Amino acid sequence: MTQPRVAKDWYESAGVRSGPRRMLEEDREFGLEVFPERLVPHLAHEGLADLGAEGRRALLTQHFYQYMLFTSHLETKVVNRGAALVAHGEVDIEVGPEARLDAFKIYSDEAYHALFSLDVVQQVEKVTATPVLPYDFGPRMARLDRTVERFLPDHGALGHLLQVVAFETVVTRFLAQIPRDEKVFRVVREVVGDHVRDEVHHHAYFSRFFKELWAGLPPRTRSEVACSMPHFVNDCLRPDLGPVRAALLSVGVPADRAEEVIRDCYREEMLVAGVRDAGRHTLALCETVGAFDFPEAREQLQLLGLAD
Ligand SMILES: [Fe+2]
Ligand SMILES: [Fe+2]
Repeated sequence: MTQPRVAKDWYESAGVRSGPRRMLEEDREFGLEVFPERLVPHLAHEGLADLGAEGRRALLTQHFYQYMLFTSHLETKVVNRGAALVAHGEVDIEVGPEARLDAFKIYSDEAYHALFSLDVVQQVEKVTATPVLPYDFGPRMARLDRTVERFLPDHGALGHLLQVVAFETVVTRFLAQIPRDEKVFRVVREVVGDHVRDEVHHHAYFSRFFKELWAGLPPRTRSEVACSMPHFVNDCLRPDLGPVRAALLSVGVPADRAEEVIRDCYREEMLVAGVRDAGRHTLALCETVGAFDFPEAREQLQLLGLAD
């Protein structure tokens, strides 16, 4: 991999290099909501109709916290684990000097994304007085690493890299709309906008990286990679229901009703449809290199409900 793909003017344009710290100022946020309600599937459930405005607001705020905390864990524990491997040249392909520097630029971007995600959570907590619930990234991490053990038991570093390829190339369309959503807190729109701007470059970098990586792999490893990719996409995109449950209980929803709400709002077919939609770019990237010409990989795609 010889050509850099991170922004040519990264030193001037990257958020971590030149962006302002985004501050929540209460008078700028008057009448706005912390996060778009439409992105919280369970808020519309009839079982929560008697929750009251305050309870609904607390649920929405918890969802926002969970998204931001998920981001800060993901960037530092998954994406930067892989970015460091590339920067150090500890991967299965030859990485040129520019591309290695680029990997550290991405590393710096992601560390900064983790910082501002936690920063905005703390600012919102102070103003709304809705306490942040503990966030556990463990189940997600376990899921991602189980896929490595299952499909790439002899290629741990490669597995960690593919997790990054998956996270950096999936496209969550709804998030990209947040910066233009005038009903949402300005500080949240700004922070999400800053993040999306950097990620456009990461997407291009890792799409290219995957193609070059694939081209250099022996056939047996190609088959293992091809089988693992639909699972990594699935691992990335499936929502964690533990935090949803904790949020519902925290606003006083009885346990049996919380289970009913979760059952209704996160049905298997809805989850699969969500993964297929947000994962389509990554799966198309795999298709481009011929990954799903391996019948065993196509079978994994079908098992997960992600085939066309
Ligand atoms: Fe990021
Ligand atoms: Fe990224």
